[in-house]
Amino acid sequence: MSILKQKIEELKNLKAEVILGGGEKAIAKQKDMGKKTARERIDALLDKDSFLEYDMFIQHEAREFGMLGKKLPADGVVIGTGKINGRNVAVFAQDFTVAGGSLGFMHAKKITKIMDVALNSRIPLIGINDSGGARIQEGVGALAGYGEIFYRNTISSGVIPQLSVILGPCAGGAVYSPALTDFVFVVEGISKMFITGPDVIKTVLGEEISQEDLGGARVHAEITGNAHFCAANEDDCFEQIRTLLDYIPHNNDKQSQCPAPVKTPLNKVKIETIVPDNPKIPYDVRDVIKAVTDGGDFFEVQALFAQNAVIGYGRINGETVGFIANQPDALAGVLDCDSADKVARFIRFCDSFNIPLVTFEDLPGYLPGVDQEHMGVIRHGAKILYAYSEATVPRVTIILRKAYGGGYIAMNSRHLQADFVFAWPLAEIAVMGAEGAANVIFRKDIADAEDPVDARNKKIEEYKDKFANPYVAAGKGFIDAVIEPCETRKYLIHALNICKNKQVERPYRKHGNPPF
Ligand code: HXC
Repeated sequence: MSILKQKIEELKNLKAEVILGGGEKAIAKQKDMGKKTARERIDALLDKDSFLEYDMFIQHEAREFGMLGKKLPADGVVIGTGKINGRNVAVFAQDFTVAGGSLGFMHAKKITKIMDVALNSRIPLIGINDSGGARIQEGVGALAGYGEIFYRNTISSGVIPQLSVILGPCAGGAVYSPALTDFVFVVEGISKMFITGPDVIKTVLGEEISQEDLGGARVHAEITGNAHFCAANEDDCFEQIRTLLDYIPHNNDKQSQCPAPVKTPLNKVKIETIVPDNPKIPYDVRDVIKAVTDGGDFFEVQALFAQNAVIGYGRINGETVGFIANQPDALAGVLDCDSADKVARFIRFCDSFNIPLVTFEDLPGYLPGVDQEHMGVIRHGAKILYAYSEATVPRVTIILRKAYGGGYIAMNSRHLQADFVFAWPLAEIAVMGAEGAANVIFRKDIADAEDPVDARNKKIEEYKDKFANPYVAAGKGFIDAVIEPCETRKYLIHALNICKNKQVERPYRKHGNPPF
């Protein structure tokens, strides 16, 4: 055998050793938990044979607590680049079979290396997290590694999309890298995310809770809002990632748009039949969105969290659009702390990556109540005002039905410099609903009337006649056109096309100070 052949054999053996990770026993344990190994995950997620792995032979440098001479293949994390839907991506995947995927100094160096590749090459970063957290034997070296990752997450924000996939434990400070990224994916029964786990909670507070109930997939998808997508299994999760990456640009350069062939809209949906005439009757606003998008496609983000607001992606004439809508089917579509956070962050992502925004409005205002006030609805609600006002992408609003009070202003009104505001003939634009308004401004007249009930009804009708329509706002130029529901897609295509090359000059500032 020639020397080269011998060396190639040696390389193959070394690679095979690394690929075996923590060994067959650890792999079997991983499978028993319904989990794939790190490399299987990358293979399942990326286009076939497109992945190139870097730094397979990295060695840790720890010496204490039995670490001297201990082999940790690839130091417990796989990094590299490849393709999804034919477009480049950078990936890291922690390997739980090697020391529980724990993060030591060299493990972190591998992650920051691939983060630098992603940023410098302007390609999305996907991080697959499956780790017991900071490698306990390494102490401050591990903590330093986390700090380096957080810094890069922040510097890359708004330049490349960053996706975090939680496929195992993600505990302690480790949760902050996902929290700094744009989209977090979780899988039922597999993902566990918390700052302090059940053991610490029991010791400090005496409370008992399971890992699942504390920080399982559903908890983060429904309650905390930390997760944007929740899947039943790993394969479904990878499908969601591929779909998302198909919709969004892969960096913040305008040339990075991702137009698709135009599909015909769903003709079978009669858009005028979706929204009931009676403003008290709810409906699913997603049907309105699907009635205007190419092929009726709509990819919802944070579908299970703050369901009174709907956000997600669809295409109009082949171009990706970020949709934001009040959802009359949940809490009558009111704005509250959680929905404000959800909408504001979505606006900022779309604006960073040049995705135009279409807003469908139908809401009675902000949710009243002591809870909301004390949770800081003032601060949270202000995020929507800030995010819309700051956004320089094309912004179009359609008022479907109710647009009352602060909600009218917040949902991308002309006063926040929307490019176009259209209203359906059912639109009601006023400071508040007719019933509430009559009770306040005609309180004395109603009380003094011979028949207060009749007097109140008359005053309600009077207020409705005056304000429960789109024409007062249209008369002041706050609405550009009152349109028939069936004309909505046509008007959206026109408006988005007009704003395609929108340019906005802003005064110099280092950066603004949003009400985080
Ligand atoms: C070193 C670790 C480790 C860690 C797990 N392992 N976590 N090694 N550092 N943080 C090792 C285990 O010793 C074991 O090694 C192997 O990984 C598999 O772990 P198991 O415990 O057998 O697995 P499982 O029963 O599934 O439990 C998983 C787990 C548990 C719940 C994650 O391992 C655990 O509680 N780990 C510690 C979590 C933790 O406290 N991390 C530090 C958080 S503080 P062997 O050799 O036996 O196979 C933190 C600070 C970061 O992260 C701050 C950033 C700002």
